[in-house]
Amino acid sequence: MAANAPTAPVPEGARITVCEVGPRDGFQIEATFIPTDRKIAIVNALFASGLRHIQVTSFVSPRAVPQLADAEAVLAGIDRPEGAVVSALIPNLRGAERAAGAGVDAVHSVVSASETHNLKNVNRPIETSLKDFEAVFALLDRAGVAIEGGIATAFGCPFEGIVPPEQVARIARRYQEMGARSVGLGDTTGMATPSTVRAAVQAIRAEAPGLGIGLHFHNTRGVGLACVMTGLAEGVTHYDASVGGLGGCPFAAGATGNICTEDLVYLLNESGYETGVNLDALIDAARMTQEVIGRDLPGQVIKSGPRLRRYDPGLTATAAG
Ligand code: COA
Ligand code: ZN
Repeated sequence: MAANAPTAPVPEGARITVCEVGPRDGFQIEATFIPTDRKIAIVNALFASGLRHIQVTSFVSPRAVPQLADAEAVLAGIDRPEGAVVSALIPNLRGAERAAGAGVDAVHSVVSASETHNLKNVNRPIETSLKDFEAVFALLDRAGVAIEGGIATAFGCPFEGIVPPEQVARIARRYQEMGARSVGLGDTTGMATPSTVRAAVQAIRAEAPGLGIGLHFHNTRGVGLACVMTGLAEGVTHYDASVGGLGGCPFAAGATGNICTEDLVYLLNESGYETGVNLDALIDAARMTQEVIGRDLPGQVIKSGPRLRRYDPGLTATAAG
């Protein structure tokens, strides 16, 4: 495909994969340890809403992210409904061994598109991460675990600024050569805009034809769902989001929450896409999460309810002059 060939938009009625990342991206930045049984209850409530893709934890150094030190116990405790895809983030071979041992269906490997963030996040240069992934992916392949190649800071870096789409496409190509079927473009600190999303997706399509693309936005600057609309216009059918709008990378300055799963599902369901998610049940899961976290979460639909929520006129003041 030529670099700027137009892509067919996702047609109305199509199935969109909503991947819930709250139990990973959301919890990792929470300072207070969330008890393992509460994490398990939230994952189970999220599955009960109809979500079938959940990133349930990370297999990273417990010193780097103490919140997710209970990864194995979370995996062992959750119910896995028919058709569920349980995934986890891994940074290295040790993470892959642990994830495969714990029985994940898929992993999300992580490397950043910017050198400085990769050093902050995984303490090694980009090239070392990529080289190490060869053995990592071979192990995962033998274990029958699917791989999504994660690319953090794909739309900008809080330390370096602009990240060229060619750099993102180059890493995507390396992932494809190592056997990944898809890549997930992480907008670590909410720097994506519709035009940068379009540029990155088109650059990958040109450099690595046939490679699946998932989009992972943070709503740091309020344009997360606008970026989803651009993704849909570019034919992308996989989006990450976090219950209640939790989220953020502890190793990226200025990180805030992911786009909110309830808000995304609301947008997709109301736009005629198929998500398989029941919004009311998802709002229940978000309320449970909010209670566990102990503060108001940034999501909108958790506060407003579905579009056709009706109020009793008798309980609303009349503006009599
Ligand atoms: N799971 C558990 N422990 C791990 C591990 C993993 N995946 N990888 C490394 N370790 C342990 C090692 O066994 C070693 O332990 P020891 O000191 O008790 O022997 C220690 O961590 C240091 O290992 P090393 O390979 O030298 O790692 P490092 O200090 O260079 O850190 C990472 C590299 C990748 C392990 C660390 O930076 C990390 O976990 N980053 C993840 C960050 C993250 O989750 N960011 C948010 C998501 S984007
Ligand atoms: Zn993220």
